[in-house]
Amino acid sequence: MTSTSGPPDHDVADLGLAAEGVRRIEWAEREMPVLRLIRERFERDRPLDGLRIGACLHVTTETANLMRTLKAGGAQVVLAASNPLSTKDDVAAALVAEYGIPTFARRGEDRDTYYAHLNAVADTHPQLTMDDGCDLVSLLHSERPDQVTDVLAGTEETTTGVIRLKAMAADGALGFPVIAVNEAQTKHLFDNRYGTGQSTVDGILRASNILLAGRKVVVAGYGWVGRGIASRMSGMGAHVAVVEVDPVRALEALMDGFAVMTHSDAAAWGELFITATGNLNVFRREHFEAMRDGAIMANSGHFDAELDLAALRALAEGHVREVRDNVQEFDLGGKKLHLVAEGRLVNLGAAEGHPAAVMDMSFANQALSAEYVAAHHAELEPKVYVVPEAIDAEVARLKLAALGIELEPMTPEQAAYVASWQHGT
Ligand SMILES: NC(=O)c1ccc[n+]([C@@H]2O[C@H](COP(=O)([O-])OP(=O)(O)OC[C@H]3O[C@@H](n4cnc5c(N)ncnc54)[C@H](O)[C@@H]3O)[C@@H](O)[C@H]2O)c1
Repeated sequence: MTSTSGPPDHDVADLGLAAEGVRRIEWAEREMPVLRLIRERFERDRPLDGLRIGACLHVTTETANLMRTLKAGGAQVVLAASNPLSTKDDVAAALVAEYGIPTFARRGEDRDTYYAHLNAVADTHPQLTMDDGCDLVSLLHSERPDQVTDVLAGTEETTTGVIRLKAMAADGALGFPVIAVNEAQTKHLFDNRYGTGQSTVDGILRASNILLAGRKVVVAGYGWVGRGIASRMSGMGAHVAVVEVDPVRALEALMDGFAVMTHSDAAAWGELFITATGNLNVFRREHFEAMRDGAIMANSGHFDAELDLAALRALAEGHVREVRDNVQEFDLGGKKLHLVAEGRLVNLGAAEGHPAAVMDMSFANQALSAEYVAAHHAELEPKVYVVPEAIDAEVARLKLAALGIELEPMTPEQAAYVASWQHGT
């Protein structure tokens, strides 16, 4: 890691990429009007003055704009990558060289470097953690328990992280309050559904350039992410089948017009497989054995555990090669199977992640949640909190205003009618 008198402490691939990073960060900013308004207010009010924030997020152009916003609010921000493959090296360089934010992230970093980077953030003794997948919170609790009491509160960006945090809270193991940003409606309804839906298609196409029209696509998991992927794939002309373990979600998929089948049936039927369950080993040895020659697999869930990659490697007995950027071919003897972006989040590994316009709302929730915990941490207990409704509504209101869309106000008569139990038919 480098420490010089110029840029802050950091570990990035190449500071020479900073100018390109700045151009792309500014491009993303044009699509993030809500975050820009919050930054302007933060510059005036400095609600995070002196607060040490340790962030572990995907190092993308949108995250850079969130970091700028937190810094404008007076916070001392340090950033590490939340995934080894999602880092954009030009963005990491720009964060250090242009915006003066200590950043620890290199695309393709190995496991040891990944944890060295998380530890570099932990070394700054954050008072507020900002996670995407709960890795920083887990590290503090498992390896640096003495530091847990330094932390006033945290925020968590994604479904998988929230599930881990709720498990910690249920075990009495969580040491500070965490706001589940993912639970905000202005986050998961848009980011998980439309953001991941579009960017998953983007990642698969950039990596493979296959035609989707007429292709048989299997989507595992019909949560917010799975719904988005299924609807976008269908919109491109693919035949979509959904696999679910939850009866209500399975019915919903059926009535949204998709086939619903088991993993075993889907393995033999499908040509392109996408996991979005937050679970592990969703497709495994018996499914790989049943898949047709040329099948392609990708994952959009948080961790690369959704496909049993150890089984896939074992079946290929070392016959694995890179056939395109971000596409590995596993030769199983009689057939070849393909894996996009090493089974990591395909939209971030093979494309640029969610479009900025959707991250505008997710990161507005992050910034406003940081402001909320800075003011209210003393009133909170060590458990998982939803984003306050007022923040959710404010983000939606600001986004509509930025898009120039007006809401219809209720007439006084209508307001009285819906508030009354005495009005009959
Ligand atoms: N790629 C991205 O940028 C991105 C963005 C947001 C969320 N995520 C991640 O995507 C994953 C899904 O998020 P979500 O918000 O849709 O969660 P969700 O809880 O709404 O949906 C997950 C669905 O998967 C189903 N499921 C669980 N195990 C299954 C199995 N073995 N087979 C088939 N279905 C199964 C569940 O019943 C549920 O309906 C999480 O890991 C989340 O962190 C990724």
